[in-house]
Parts: sequence; C-alpha cells; structure tokens
Amino acid sequence: MENKINNLLNAQINLEFFSAYLYLAMSTYFSEINMDGFAKFMKKQAKEELEHAQRIYDYLLLRNEKITYQRIEAPDTNWTNAKDVLDGAIEHEKFVSEKIKEIYKAADELDDYATLNLLDWFIDEQLEEEEKFRVLKEKIQAFDECSCTLEVMDRELDKE
Ligand code: FEO
Repeated sequence: MENKINNLLNAQINLEFFSAYLYLAMSTYFSEINMDGFAKFMKKQAKEELEHAQRIYDYLLLRNEKITYQRIEAPDTNWTNAKDVLDGAIEHEKFVSEKIKEIYKAADELDDYATLNLLDWFIDEQLEEEEKFRVLKEKIQAFDECSCTLEVMDRELDKE
C-alpha cells in the first residue's frame, strides 16, 4: 500500500473515533435534558462509528499495514436545542463523506483496488447516515419543535 493511502486510512480511523466521541457527547446532551429516546439514538450512532473505525483497522491489519494512533479532538458541545444537535450531526456526516471521497480519489489514482473495495461500503454507509439525520431533523422542523410532539418522537426513538 502506498504511504499516502496508509496515512489517509489512519486519519480516517481517527475521524471515526472522533465521530463516536461527538455522538456520545450529543447523547449526553439529550440525557441531560431528559430526552432519553434521542439520547439512545445518538448512543447507537456512537457505537456504529466505533464499528467504522474497526472496519478500517481490520483492513489495515489484513494488509499487514502500519496502524498509527493520533490524538482524538474534544467535540464542541455548545448546542441549544434538538435541531441544533441534528444540524451538527448532518454537517459532520457531510464532512466525513468528503473525507471518504478524498481517499477514494487517491486510491483510484494509485490503482489500489482493494482499498476502493473497502471504500465502496463506506460510500453507501455515508448515504444512509446523512439521510438518517436529515429525516430526523426534518421531522423536528415539521413540528416546529412543539414540545409535546418532540416528546412523542422521543418515546418512539426510545422503542427502537
Ligand atoms: Fe462513520 Fe457516520 O461516519
């Protein structure tokens, strides 16, 4: 594997761990305002991010490649309401999607077909994740944050 791809994949592992940290912080925010369904939803997203990191980690090991450990940034937690949190999650997923595309482009230029194969899964996953957060945000917007409706949504998420 070319160094460039190794570096990009190791950076992506770090970004996936950061994503887990960010979604766990979002879960904490919802727990603190007693929106337990939303808290549970975000906690599940955090767990999925750890699985994404693991997927890349396993791939690097399989190719006998070096794993490098980097500092995980602290997430910015200045949210003021549920919509604000979902906006943050959507923006973050768009950023992650761009990063995946960057690696894809580099792997394509270097004819690294195995990495392209790995990234195909991530491209599909990013579509799903962006859509999941977008739908939830639009539901919140549609109800204009009526607290009673948010409570209903919170209970529904708690059942998932
Ligand atoms: Fe692993 Fe939500 O990006």
